Amino acid sequence: MLTHTLHYGLGVFEGVRAYECHDGRAAAFRLTDHINRLYSSARIAQINIPFSKEEMRKAIFDLLIVNRFKEAYIRPIAFIGDGAMGVHPRNNPIRVAIAAYPWGAYLGDEAVTKGIRAKIASYTRMHVNTFMTKAKISGNYVNSVMAKLEVTSLGFDEAIMLDTEGYVSEGSGENIFIVRNGTLKTPSLTSILEGITRNSTMEIALDEGLQVVTERFTRDELYIADEAFLTGTAAEITPIREVDGRTIGDGVPGPVTRRLQERFFDVVRGKDEKFINWLDFVP
Ligand SMILES: Cc1ncc(COP(=O)(O)O)c(C=O)c1O
Repeated sequence: MLTHTLHYGLGVFEGVRAYECHDGRAAAFRLTDHINRLYSSARIAQINIPFSKEEMRKAIFDLLIVNRFKEAYIRPIAFIGDGAMGVHPRNNPIRVAIAAYPWGAYLGDEAVTKGIRAKIASYTRMHVNTFMTKAKISGNYVNSVMAKLEVTSLGFDEAIMLDTEGYVSEGSGENIFIVRNGTLKTPSLTSILEGITRNSTMEIALDEGLQVVTERFTRDELYIADEAFLTGTAAEITPIREVDGRTIGDGVPGPVTRRLQERFFDVVRGKDEKFINWLDFVP
């Protein structure tokens, strides 16, 4: 009960997905990048993880193997244990745990095929100097949870947050993209998490010959987008069909979103040789 992180929120975690590939093997998607981000988050949070990256990778694979999981969501977390109960975690131990469990489409199967209804939350995404947005720090998610509670109580599926200057930043647990006149746009890496699915989507889009612009945009630019979608390890690529009561495009997932989704699912299941290096096969 006296776990320091439980009280004050300074812990770092990751979300990784493993997929069963077309040849029956299981692979964790971009595991190296997720492990690197976990250690970057820890550096930002000044949490000294008492295991090497290689030990972390092995533990994740062992967990998948003993559970015989071919598909799973994997959640490593490093947190500050019990000891000093003041804000300063003087000599408290750093604990590390990893969970793995089956988890289907984050916002439901229909979300992936038909798109979701999103709402701009009344809560502002944190200022870059309030919380560190490049780190997946447990306490950062208070903002996400409150935004999610707000919009779901109003009947929406997901919350989109504006940054402190009023520009679109990201979803409660996803990055956001819009498509206008065939060009993709996603907010630059200021007040948002540096999403690994965001990066994968941009690489796939470039390979598809699409133009990708990273620049912040306003909520009304989102309202008049031809297409919009969210990206995240949990949410994968989830189309947005409505924002704040405005229909996006034709109110169904558009051709660019569907093409990127199709390619993304081929990539994570090892059907796309071009991006096969993103798969970390479970030994
Ligand atoms: C706030 C936030 N933004 C974006 C993302 C997407 O990041 P990734 O694609 O690396 O899962 C996540 C999920 O991890 C998130 O929690």
